[in-house]
Amino acid sequence: MDVSRLKQSWSLVAAHGDQVPLYFYSTLFLAYPEIRQMFPTNMAGQRDRLVAALGHVVSEVDQVDRLVGYLQQLGADHRKFAVRAEHYPAVGEALLATLRHFLAEQWTDELAQDWASAYGLVAKVMTEAAQAAEAVQPPWWVAEVVGHERRGFDVAVLTLRPQYLLPFTPGQSIGVSHPAVRSWRYYTPANVPRADGTLELHVRAAPGGVVSSRLVYGCAPGDQLHLAAPVGDGLTLRSAGSADLLLLAGGTGWAPLKALVEQVAAEGSPRRVDLYLGARSRGEFYDGEAVDKLAASHPWLTVTQVVGLDLNRPGEFVYPVDRAVADGDWRSRQVYVCGSDDMVSRTVATLSRSGYHLGQLHHEALGRQWYGPAWRTAVQTPAVPDDCGGAA
Ligand code: HEM
Repeated sequence: MDVSRLKQSWSLVAAHGDQVPLYFYSTLFLAYPEIRQMFPTNMAGQRDRLVAALGHVVSEVDQVDRLVGYLQQLGADHRKFAVRAEHYPAVGEALLATLRHFLAEQWTDELAQDWASAYGLVAKVMTEAAQAAEAVQPPWWVAEVVGHERRGFDVAVLTLRPQYLLPFTPGQSIGVSHPAVRSWRYYTPANVPRADGTLELHVRAAPGGVVSSRLVYGCAPGDQLHLAAPVGDGLTLRSAGSADLLLLAGGTGWAPLKALVEQVAAEGSPRRVDLYLGARSRGEFYDGEAVDKLAASHPWLTVTQVVGLDLNRPGEFVYPVDRAVADGDWRSRQVYVCGSDDMVSRTVATLSRSGYHLGQLHHEALGRQWYGPAWRTAVQTPAVPDDCGGAA
């Protein structure tokens, strides 16, 4: 298999932009109409997740050793979409038809052979992992909404009670779907695992985000949601040892960091934790009561609130990292960052410029909505900024 040929051909195809998923899905749904109901109800205008990942992952097949953990998790996780082994050939066929269409006269028998083998390899890892997961985990958990509090115009804090215990490590993300929209988004619980199994989610309704809008505006106690197995460890304390922490949060990026604060409290041998909590305006600090309570009960925790927009500084936006760097030197700390793409990439860039090394900066994966939170652990260097707000 000639991997450079695979990569090169994928970049030629990817250059056709939105035409590629359009062709792929038309081909797939025409040949296999029964597959249509597995995908989101409204796919118009949606940033495609499957096709981009498919081409990218399959053409990276030479890294299969590094990718294998990611692919296993992806395969097991695909059970939440009701994907079964017999669907893989259909997707493979549509992928090859799409490549053939866009590569036109550059499509050769050898290339067809290479793509078929690469896809087969990836599909094998994913289907075997899905099969193995059957014995261990349900494809999804049904959870009841037991609390729904609007905290401002576009933010809600939800309390969910899964029907069966859903084990997770603080900082991990969980796929969440409302059955009415058949679309999934990742959110990180804002709590350590509780005796009653409940989870707290912080959700901001993102423009065009069907799941987040549903959760904020169209959801009430008594509703049922679907949750998928926890994934990712970009934001877990696993690699931080017993080091002191600097936590930098923007908006609902506070959720996973709140879980980490709770974890430090539960550890019993507290380390120093300095938290910088950012919001665009003072009115957007949506969890003030809980933050005050944590700060009052834990002497090892210092909280600084950072308001991004200030009428006295028109045109200038202050990020939590700006304030933290001005306040002190945290280079001996492990740093956890969560917020929008923009917030995280600026934070990583600022800290790298200030002499922090990438191994001490923890954040979720680039484009997690495309590849899922496990992507970075598998293949990316820690240099790559990401989105961990879970707001889409
Ligand atoms: C080599 C094989 C495959 C790869 C690498 C792959 C990769 C991916 C990735 C990375 C995502 C986004 C994951 C996330 O956001 O959690 C995704 C989503 C999805 N995949 Fe796959 N997939 C493969 C095969 C399949 C097959 C055979 C089906 C069955 C029809 C399928 C159905 C879906 C669906 C329904 C979604 C959600 C799409 C959305 O919400 O927009 N995938 N896939």
